[in-house]
Amino acid sequence: MPIRYLITSALPYINGVKHLGNLIGSILPADVYARFLRQSGKEVLYICGTDEHGTPAEIAAETAGIPIEVYCRQMYEIQKEIYEQFNIEFDFFGRTSSKSNHIFTTEIFKKLYENGYIQEQYIDQYYSFDDKRFLPDRYVEGTCPHCGYTRARGDQCEGCGVLLNPEELVDPHSAISKSKNIVLQKTKHFFLDMPKLESKVAAWVEKKTNWSDTVKGIARKWIKEGLRPRCITRDLKWGINVPLAWINRQKKSIEENNSKEEISQESKVFYVWFDAPNGYISITKDWAENINDPDIWEKWWLPENEDDVFYAEFMAKDNVPFHSVFWPAMILGTGEKFKKVNDIKGFHWLTYEHGKFSTSQQRGVFTDVALNLYPADYWRYYLLANCPETSDSDFSFASFAAVVNKNLADTLGNFLTRTVALHKKYFDLKINIELSNKNIDFNLEKKVKDFIEKINQSLLERKFRVTMAELRALWVLGNEYITQNAPWNSAKTNIEQCQITLIHCIHLLRVFAIVSFPFIPKTSEKIFAVLDDEIENLRTTKITDCVNFRYFEKGHKIGEPIQLFHKIDEETVKELTARFAGKD
Ligand code: MF3
Ligand code: ZN
Repeated sequence: MPIRYLITSALPYINGVKHLGNLIGSILPADVYARFLRQSGKEVLYICGTDEHGTPAEIAAETAGIPIEVYCRQMYEIQKEIYEQFNIEFDFFGRTSSKSNHIFTTEIFKKLYENGYIQEQYIDQYYSFDDKRFLPDRYVEGTCPHCGYTRARGDQCEGCGVLLNPEELVDPHSAISKSKNIVLQKTKHFFLDMPKLESKVAAWVEKKTNWSDTVKGIARKWIKEGLRPRCITRDLKWGINVPLAWINRQKKSIEENNSKEEISQESKVFYVWFDAPNGYISITKDWAENINDPDIWEKWWLPENEDDVFYAEFMAKDNVPFHSVFWPAMILGTGEKFKKVNDIKGFHWLTYEHGKFSTSQQRGVFTDVALNLYPADYWRYYLLANCPETSDSDFSFASFAAVVNKNLADTLGNFLTRTVALHKKYFDLKINIELSNKNIDFNLEKKVKDFIEKINQSLLERKFRVTMAELRALWVLGNEYITQNAPWNSAKTNIEQCQITLIHCIHLLRVFAIVSFPFIPKTSEKIFAVLDDEIENLRTTKITDCVNFRYFEKGHKIGEPIQLFHKIDEETVKELTARFAGKD
């Protein structure tokens, strides 16, 4: 049994506010899992942050006309604020551009170098005079030599799908400035020797019997297709500098008499995927500094006993190769005992009205805009209930409205309104009796406990779709219970029975709030406020322990009825659908 749970979600790229697909594909489910485990009394650390290097970030800063450091700081603050508003409870939301990541990534590189896993190779790369930069493959555009498509990219032709190298393009030009003033230049780069690491990684992957078929399939495919040496450096200014002076010193000491030429001190930095995953560890170090306990990060990443920590990663499936093969290979190559992942949760895609979310075309709903439209819990609930867990799923305002109206407003919201309004009408919101074994409904108790047991189990297994279905079924049970017991009838014939029913309902509300807390935390807090219970109890009550129909004592008074959710009407759906369709 693990004693600690380490959770990370893929670090969102810095260049721009993320859309709903990004949120449900990593951060939101990780938050639910973290909240659930904390509620269960487990020791949890949830780490995330912004992934700040790479050409897209540089270009975004240039387009915005501000220095890259300033751009990143601003975007970091913006993204951090958005996640706070979604009530994501990271233990720390850091940055890959931090000093600690520079230091740590350099250390990782040096260890890999010393262990013989780094090679040098010359490669041809286009240099653009007008952009004053080397162009990464996908920033070279031209005509496809196979199909004649005129906007093929240097890595792939979107016309015919063929994989390309930039030098194969006819009429090549910069995708950034469109300039044709570009030349192929030889430049020396460093490569991670994946073939040499292959047997280690493959053996490690094969031991992961708990991985989902999708995740394991992706990892195996990468390994099977032959791991080629992978270029881990780039000719850019923004990033973590390759320690060229150190490398030159290493070479001198190894081959003293061999007059090897020195690598020039140009701006050579690590490839973004070489530094970003290290960010999980370096951000944990920053967290430790922040809480004035600088060595505490080791408890998570260098545990005495590997099995003391259970490490779960959350990400979209395009990230899986890097987390299942590339980063573990790096770590294995260092020979250090850093904690490696136990389970990778890989999500499929959320589509927008059956098409792609598109940042460039502003198609779909982005996280900042979403929060201006509806409260965080509407989105949290909908996205989790509709998450692309085992296949793609689609976002549409019509389905969003249907789910909000039916599940949130008509089921959970309505149960609260009915219960509290009736209790007000008949008992002035006061609990006048204490339930005893004679009148507790043990049949109801059993049903509730069964649902909770299923929710507990599926959450432990990080299965969100089933969890959401069980949660909804639990809420439905509340409505069925009140309908069947019809306290509005017993009010006329047997007022004690009426009160007994409503006390059960009040306790059900409390149970609903606790069990729903990982998913819709603000709503749970509202329910607790109505029940006049301590909000703090939401964080610390195990869902499997929360069924107790005698929790509120005789004399306890609850608050006025409130409306938890507002329905979304058809007109609004039409208007929103049109507004977010994007520009062509
Ligand atoms: N920024 C990447 C993406 O959004 C994810 C990086 S995950 C990390 O696809 F581990 F490398 F940081
Ligand atoms: Zn083509």
